[in-house]
Amino acid sequence: MLIKKPTDIKSSEITDEKLYRNRRQFMLTASAAVAGAVITACKKSPPPNVATAPPQKLEGVVKSSFTVDEPLNSLKDITTYNNFYEFGTDKSDPAANAHTLVTRPWTVAVEGEVMKPKTFDIDELMKLAPLEERVYRFRCVEAWSMVIPWIGFPLNELIKRVEPTSKAKYVQFTTLLDRNQMPEQRFGTLEWPYVEGLRLDEAMHPLAILAVGLYGQVLPNQNGAPIRLIVPWKYGFKSIKSIVKIKFVESQPMTTWNLMAADEYGFYANVNPEVSHPRWSQASERRLPSLFKSTKTLMFNGYADQVASLYSGIDLRKNY
Ligand code: MTE
Repeated sequence: MLIKKPTDIKSSEITDEKLYRNRRQFMLTASAAVAGAVITACKKSPPPNVATAPPQKLEGVVKSSFTVDEPLNSLKDITTYNNFYEFGTDKSDPAANAHTLVTRPWTVAVEGEVMKPKTFDIDELMKLAPLEERVYRFRCVEAWSMVIPWIGFPLNELIKRVEPTSKAKYVQFTTLLDRNQMPEQRFGTLEWPYVEGLRLDEAMHPLAILAVGLYGQVLPNQNGAPIRLIVPWKYGFKSIKSIVKIKFVESQPMTTWNLMAADEYGFYANVNPEVSHPRWSQASERRLPSLFKSTKTLMFNGYADQVASLYSGIDLRKNY
């Protein structure tokens, strides 16, 4: 993303950005340091260490036909190589730090342009529809990818329950904002809280799911517990973690990475090997744990048959 780069980018290409980040970080850290003194002084005792609790098995999960037949990444790959900037910017930071996230009690407010707004308790949401295991390809904009057995339910099941009005054209998702539980939110690494969005028809697509688990177990904190979005035909940054609010709106909502670097991260973020990132090609990807970009990237991450019609008549070079 803005900060982490694939290993194949020459350092000469990234100096400017490092300078930018250092300058930005310096300014933000300086102001956060003042605020931080207060935060530290007021800090409550740390919440229970949920990440180290024994993994909880999810019962009654049915296999879905929306599944790719490709070798799975290991649980270790999936839970130790993460992007979750609220817990740090290194790939290993979320696994090391996300134990401070408290996932019960947890609610998700569903509001905006809907006939039946409602705040759902997470345990109610987990029973909203049968939980399915879906093995999806997951492609990060940084050109690495994995194959992950998610457990969740179609986002459209939730959308149908709240009955969007005719004004609802987009859906905006928001992550928890809590500096005590999410330590990096004390700094200006990103604009907080993390926000993402989809067009309503994208959100209604049967491939888009709300995930609550993986590998048969409750979602580990570092993967976005207790509930996150998974949109397999889009770059990973669309798949927002630890969601507390889902809002139906009339116009295209702001998204975190678009806000941070609009020329690099568009609203659509469809996996498209023909549109390079300004700083690297998207034609191939590093299928973890491989060190090499030897896997050809597929249009819409291989889901073109199912989703291409959503974008007919749209210039995907402009709408990247
Ligand atoms: N959601 C939040 N709240 N914060 C984040 O930093 N990172 C995004 C996405 N969702 C992110 C997030 C990015 S860039 C990616 S690639 C995926 O989460 C990574 O998901 P994973 O760690 O489960 O592989």
